[in-house]
Amino acid sequence: MIHSRIAGTGSYLPERVMTNQELEKLVDTSDEWIVERTGIAQRHIAADDQTCSDLAQRAAEQAMARAGIAATDIDLVIVATSTPDHVFPSTACRLVERLGIPGGAVAFDVAAACSGFIYALDVANRFIQTGGAGRALVIGSELFSRILDWSDRGTCVLFGDGAGAVVLEAAESPGILSTHLHADGRQTDLLNVPWGVSQGYEQLPGERGKVRMKGNEVFRVAVRTLGGLVDETLAANGLKRGDVDWLIPHQANIRIMTATAKKLGLPAERMVSTVADHGNTSAASIPLALNEAVSDGRIKRGDLLLLEAFGAGFTWGSALIRY
Ligand code: UT7
Repeated sequence: MIHSRIAGTGSYLPERVMTNQELEKLVDTSDEWIVERTGIAQRHIAADDQTCSDLAQRAAEQAMARAGIAATDIDLVIVATSTPDHVFPSTACRLVERLGIPGGAVAFDVAAACSGFIYALDVANRFIQTGGAGRALVIGSELFSRILDWSDRGTCVLFGDGAGAVVLEAAESPGILSTHLHADGRQTDLLNVPWGVSQGYEQLPGERGKVRMKGNEVFRVAVRTLGGLVDETLAANGLKRGDVDWLIPHQANIRIMTATAKKLGLPAERMVSTVADHGNTSAASIPLALNEAVSDGRIKRGDLLLLEAFGAGFTWGSALIRY
């Protein structure tokens, strides 16, 4: 049986930092409200000329360097994003060219909103387990600043831009112990960008091209669903509350994250939290947080990690990993 393991992690955040105080000048909000209700103090915003592949490239280069792996060794690239460079080719195809990965590699994007990285990790893991790939780049890269309505205080204070990446490679022992993916399309009205290219360009998308969310209702579904996901992940691995070393949650809201840590029986210091500095970077948030805790030495080889996400669709998923 072939397994897969994380060989290296990387991330990239655009230089420009936008504070809550700046948002106070744009919409009727306050630093106090944002911090109290979400835990967010600031977020990074991409420069006008930066695209999804620019951010992804920087994160991927760091992950490959940390793994000690050259681009010529990569045979699978998966980019999780809702904000790609182009309709096509995929952002993953652009990275093949930009990183110097050999032509003939497998490369595609995955669309699962904030759960996209977990979805991409699951797919890459299956490629490796079945011998379809030996070394994979799995990336989450997002520029949500491009799809925000900067006059809607209910959404514009929540999101930021960034990218995170891992190199996954074949190994004799796991690595990735289990993955759990789910989707349910019956509540799309609660969180969406209600425009896409198949609707045509007769009318410019305008407001329909921006994130819309009934935050309070999403919050309730997220907490309930993630609680169930934690139970499912522990049960599938014969684990009990408190057995996991680190929770690396999707960084949507500190209150949702803390509720999940509590459900897992973990103290707050065993949860990796970057939401204060990055906001919600959608598919990039988990690999960004993972790389931060690996880089500062908190997460060590052999630690047991639980990664989980919930996002539009709804989609949700988790991965249990022996790092
Ligand atoms: O990543 C994908 C998944 N997304 C999520 O998981 C996000 C889930 N939702 C949330 O994180 C929270 O629901 C929010 C942070 C979006 C909102 O927090 P909340 O505690 O659920 O607030 P609320 O929507 O119930 O609104 C409470 C009040 C309302 O005013 P009234 O009606 O009580 O007068 C809102 O209009 O807060 C108001 N409000 C704001 N006030 C200041 C909403 N946004 C803001 C704001 N600044 N930015």
